[in-house]
Amino acid sequence: MSRERLLSLDVSVDYAGKPGVLRNVSLEVNRGEIVGLVGQSGSGKSTLAMAILRLLELKGGSARGQIRFEGRDLMTLSERELRRIRGKQIGLVLQSPMTALNPALRIGTQLKEGWRCHGGDPAGWRRRAMELGEREPACGRGFPPALSPAAQRRAGAAGLDRHGDPASPAAPAGG
Ligand SMILES: Nc1ncnc2c1ncn2[C@@H]1O[C@H](COP(=O)(O)OP(=O)(O)OP(=O)(O)O)[C@@H](O)[C@H]1O
Ligand SMILES: [Mg+2]
Repeated sequence: MSRERLLSLDVSVDYAGKPGVLRNVSLEVNRGEIVGLVGQSGSGKSTLAMAILRLLELKGGSARGQIRFEGRDLMTLSERELRRIRGKQIGLVLQSPMTALNPALRIGTQLKEGWRCHGGDPAGWRRRAMELGEREPACGRGFPPALSPAAQRRAGAAGLDRHGDPASPAAPAGG
């Protein structure tokens, strides 16, 4: 059965002072498919995830090539258009959750902020925080450093699952 193409890319990435980190890496993901990217530490898995979301500039990197998502080339979209895709249609769960979560803010506060930014159901963050709290009591009104790394990762991912489209890919950076 042929499936609709969701993502197809062919990208090269350079960092300032470290050119050629990725050279014409290409892959395709069809709707409903799960694709894992495996490689040794430093091979560029996180770099590719950041390139897909056009966040490499934050790390001093630059990407060339094409990243087509649902027929649109992400490389040519405006920041405004990208903001509609980031966190809604493409999520990124970072491997080091403590660098993604603010250690000084309660988990619930951070869920609420993410929910508001993405225009989700206003009551949704509270429901999600309670679900998390049932499984991870420390999550309820807790701060990130009180959680295990796995629970921190689940808390980070909780901010992404409110849109509920199982066909949309997350782009998790490899561990
Ligand atoms: N901001 C940066 N500036 C310069 N080089 C960088 C930067 N970030 C990553 N690199 C280099 O790019 C290469 C790919 O790194 P990346 O973090 O994407 O690898 P990874 O496959 O995710 O590794 P791991 O499995 O350890 O998470 C590595 O050689 C790394 O040193
Ligand atoms: Mg990585």
